[in-house]
Amino acid sequence: MELLYTILGLFIFLIAVKYQYLRKKNRKLQPPSPPALPILGHLHLVKTAPHLALQKLSIKYGPLIFLHFGIRPFLVVSSPSLAEECLTKTNDIIFANRPESVSSKYLGYNSTILILSPYGDHWRNLRRVTTIHMFSSIQLQRFSSIWTEEIHFIIKKLFSSNSDEKTWKVKDMSSLFRELLFNVIMKIVAGKRWPSDQPGDIFSPQALTDLCDYIPILRWIGYGGLEKGVISLHQKRDEFLQGLIDQTRKEEAEDGSCSTERRKTIIQKLLSLQEAEPEYYTDEIVKGIIQIMLSAGTHTTSQTMEWALSSLLNHPNVLQKARDELEKMQPGHLLNDSDLSKLPYLRCIINETLRLFPAAPTLVPHFSSEDCTIGGYKVPKGTTLLVNAWAIHRDPNVWEEPNKYKPERFEGMDEGGWNEGFKFLPFGKGRRICPGAAMAIRLVGLTLGTLIQCFEWERAGPEMVDLEENQGATLGKAKPLEASYKPRPSMIKTISQL
Ligand code: HEM
Repeated sequence: MELLYTILGLFIFLIAVKYQYLRKKNRKLQPPSPPALPILGHLHLVKTAPHLALQKLSIKYGPLIFLHFGIRPFLVVSSPSLAEECLTKTNDIIFANRPESVSSKYLGYNSTILILSPYGDHWRNLRRVTTIHMFSSIQLQRFSSIWTEEIHFIIKKLFSSNSDEKTWKVKDMSSLFRELLFNVIMKIVAGKRWPSDQPGDIFSPQALTDLCDYIPILRWIGYGGLEKGVISLHQKRDEFLQGLIDQTRKEEAEDGSCSTERRKTIIQKLLSLQEAEPEYYTDEIVKGIIQIMLSAGTHTTSQTMEWALSSLLNHPNVLQKARDELEKMQPGHLLNDSDLSKLPYLRCIINETLRLFPAAPTLVPHFSSEDCTIGGYKVPKGTTLLVNAWAIHRDPNVWEEPNKYKPERFEGMDEGGWNEGFKFLPFGKGRRICPGAAMAIRLVGLTLGTLIQCFEWERAGPEMVDLEENQGATLGKAKPLEASYKPRPSMIKTISQL
């Protein structure tokens, strides 16, 4: 009997030694990780503004960190070379997926919408269709008449409430930019302006994962009604989107004509595809495509405009330099899309805005479909990847005086900084790169340039514009921008003729 106890004791001892050895070995193989709490893991370290909290952690633990948010493993990357290793080279396909979540189930029509779809044939098809009908340079050329008209509309609006070159008037620019973006995207999608009785906030970007995804028991006990909130938002969005589709069908039926030439809006084009392939292009797929234009394209772009104008108001010398560049154009000529390529300094201003205030500071979460190796460490399948673009853009090892607003840093850079590798990635990189980037750059450039050309701009008060960030899913200003403006005498005639 005694011998049996000895053998059993020895056996347990060996297992314990082996367990300790494996733990140590795994710890060495996995990227650095701060101490975690039971159940919560590292959630307590990332309460608000994840990009800021993760930047602090990366300063302490290095540019590659492994975390657990509840049950979900996360890899956080904060250097250009590691971002490159994840998003291109050998790991790009592995990380080209998106994590599943309560949001992706409801708001993403069971993860079938472009931004949330896993990597594969369906995602590839959505990218192809949206590129052909929305994002290609031919389409952008066609849409440019829409955004030119809408930019002129806000110029006229500003002028009608202040046409006196001697009086300054204060305007809420935050609402004006948001209204502009909703009208532009809505016209591209449905051929008409955003309905004035419909609040645009149903399409404000949502966090793609939340507490219930990390601690599933909360979902089962209905904690905070999180899931209910997502379902209710989905129903509101779905009802609105279905209304747009039904109305288009009705108008086409009344018109009595469905000729391809007449199908100009995105919905009309998608309904043509539906006629040809009804099993694939269901109403859900059509709604998913429209939804992504309204949710991914509006707030991101209008917030970038707001940050750009805020920074200019805080740096009148930069504003003057931008004005000087615009002055070189023919007197009285109102800026148009084709002038943008002749305005390199305006492009530097946009880049500097995107560097300091990237609308998606940690990009959109990616997800690994296989085990892989990053920075020499093992990363298991099923890990969510966050690339902290915000931290890379403000890293003193990557950018000189990173917190200083200096558009000149982009001067002379190829393609206005576009080819700066992974040190500048406001639109992400690799397979999941933002397909709306070119549209966004043109929209921000034309809006900002036309506003600077037509009006004088100043801060609404003596104090600097507050650049505090909000806590939203995309990086907006905590306080909406108010700015003072008056028409420029040399442009009054041109504006009056719009
Ligand atoms: C300044 C404006 C914008 C910024 C900063 C921005 C940024 C981004 C970023 C960082 C991503 C994720 C990239 C990744 O996963 O690594 C993304 C994805 C996406 N963006 Fe944008 N975006 C902007 C405007 C737009 C516009 C105007 C549209 C369309 C009208 C758009 C449509 C999309 C779509 C559909 C995706 C998902 C792509 C995919 O998952 O395959 N974005 N954007």
